[in-house]
Amino acid sequence: MFDSTHAHITTWVVALILFAVVLILRKGGNQKGAKITHMILRVFYLLIILTGVLLFSRHQGFNPALYGLKFLGGVIVIVMMEMVLVRGAKGRNTGLLWTVLIIVLAITFFLGLRLPLGWNMLS
Ligand code: HEM
Repeated sequence: MFDSTHAHITTWVVALILFAVVLILRKGGNQKGAKITHMILRVFYLLIILTGVLLFSRHQGFNPALYGLKFLGGVIVIVMMEMVLVRGAKGRNTGLLWTVLIIVLAITFFLGLRLPLGWNMLS
């Protein structure tokens, strides 16, 4: 968990899938299912942060600035996912949140690829 990114990748892939499942269930009118899936998604937020912090604490010395940006980007993605779901449930506008989510998700993903562990195809 300290030197391999597999656990971290698993947590954010599962979280993105659960995020889509909440939206699909909600659209299909299954509010109870969406609520339960959202609760499970929140556990995965914690697991993303836990695995991310473990990698960060061990490796950020390579490049503290880029690792800091990766950390910040990851946290913003999680906050945006949660805000899209909570505001969407209340019927509020989520357009701006979606824009920030997609842009920061792309930046976080490419920073992850740029950093030295695991997939390292951009450096
Ligand atoms: C949904 C949010 C997130 C996404 C999509 C994401 C994506 C990624 C990707 C694509 C990688 C590269 C994996 C590899 O090279 O094998 C990675 C690695 C990493 N992530 Fe995240 N991440 C997220 C959240 C976080 C958070 C919240 C933190 C910090 C608390 C974090 C810290 C790290 C660290 C330290 C690495 C290792 C970088 C390296 O040396 O290659 N990530 N992440």
